[in-house]
Amino acid sequence: MVCRKTADLPRSELLKLSAELEEQYLEFKKRGVKLDMSRGRPAAAQLDLSMGAADNVTNYIGVKGADYRNYGLLDGIPEMKQFFAELLGLDAADIIVGGNASLNLMYDAMVRLMLHGTAGEKPWKDIKKVKFLCPSPGYDRHFAICEHLGIEMIVIPMKEDGPDMDMVERLAAEDEAVKGIWCVPLYSNPEGICYSDETVERLSSMKCAAKDFRIFWDNAYGIHHLYEETKLRNIMESCRRAGNPDRVYYFFSTSKITFPGAGIAMVAASENNRREILRTMGIQTIGYDKMNQMRTLNFLRNAANTREHMKKLASSLREKFEIVLSALEANFAGSDMAAWHTPRGGYFVALDTLPGCARETIRLAAEAGVKLTPAGSTYPYHRDPRDSNIRIAPSFPPCGELREAMYLLCICIKLAAVRKILAE
Ligand SMILES: Cc1ncc(COP(=O)(O)O)c(C=O)c1O
Repeated sequence: MVCRKTADLPRSELLKLSAELEEQYLEFKKRGVKLDMSRGRPAAAQLDLSMGAADNVTNYIGVKGADYRNYGLLDGIPEMKQFFAELLGLDAADIIVGGNASLNLMYDAMVRLMLHGTAGEKPWKDIKKVKFLCPSPGYDRHFAICEHLGIEMIVIPMKEDGPDMDMVERLAAEDEAVKGIWCVPLYSNPEGICYSDETVERLSSMKCAAKDFRIFWDNAYGIHHLYEETKLRNIMESCRRAGNPDRVYYFFSTSKITFPGAGIAMVAASENNRREILRTMGIQTIGYDKMNQMRTLNFLRNAANTREHMKKLASSLREKFEIVLSALEANFAGSDMAAWHTPRGGYFVALDTLPGCARETIRLAAEAGVKLTPAGSTYPYHRDPRDSNIRIAPSFPPCGELREAMYLLCICIKLAAVRKILAE
């Protein structure tokens, strides 16, 4: 399809469009709508589908006779490791079960590397500069961890099959200060991009100047398919095959399966890495909540049952994604005012406005009652170099409100674009 350039429209047409948009915008504003689409939270109706995960636990004596009401089993109950292994195609022996949040495990991993280093290499705090590769747009909380710890972030553009691997390989090979990369390999936050087998292989086998280069593999949306299943190559195996078994930490949680903030997180890692993780973990805690591990497991049961549960969640989420995508299609097909990806899973839709228009679009939407993720959030240091990326989180509002929000957002995207072009 030929894309019409808004800037090429005659001024008279732009003025007319601007007047129409101003009127629609003011009309909407008068309605006093109040909506929050800033974070990827499930709707209450989705959470209702997991109420079985809140049942009391009566089967607290584990397979090996341990009493799960008591201290013990720092690395998690064997039943939960087996469950995650089956669900993700991992080796149960590689898995450490954590607490309620994978983000916590990621933060702890980063702090451990800062304070103690890994594999006998210098702690990162003792190195003049530590740099991290940040495929962007990406997850704001990953970037917040780096910023908090003073790790310099390097933006890596995303392509259709994952981060720009030519750039990743070049930077990892030439600069010893580059210590790792953030990856959300399936249905990336926010674009919904899935890493190809080739991307996974290249990450696993690339030459790294830093011996302690680490991949933070945050597979948060690993089973969150909205349609057919997208397969992801097993990076634990790829790294092992490539002779780099210690390169990757693999994170996952049940946050968007049962209850965010009240589920179970895990990290899978090589034997060397697990030893380091457990040494620190054993100082942080005597053990995580095994009763919640059992509670979650009593509900999810096994991989096949969990996939069925995910289909139920997907059927309520799918409609919301389709509302967002059809609004974008109806308003912007053949226009350069917005470009977007069509995710097949995950939790977000990301769109790009004309350069220099995202901040203003989000401001306009907020002023008319719809709160979106703040502009720049999807980039390190909150600095979107083109000021164009907007993350839409469709999961929370009911469908009717989402339609309203999208109606407004489309007006705001156009209004910001037209005002900018006229001002220029
Ligand atoms: C990519 C990604 N990783 C991690 C998380 C948070 O996971 P958890 O609740 O396990 O900390 C989110 C939540 O939105 C996410 O989008």
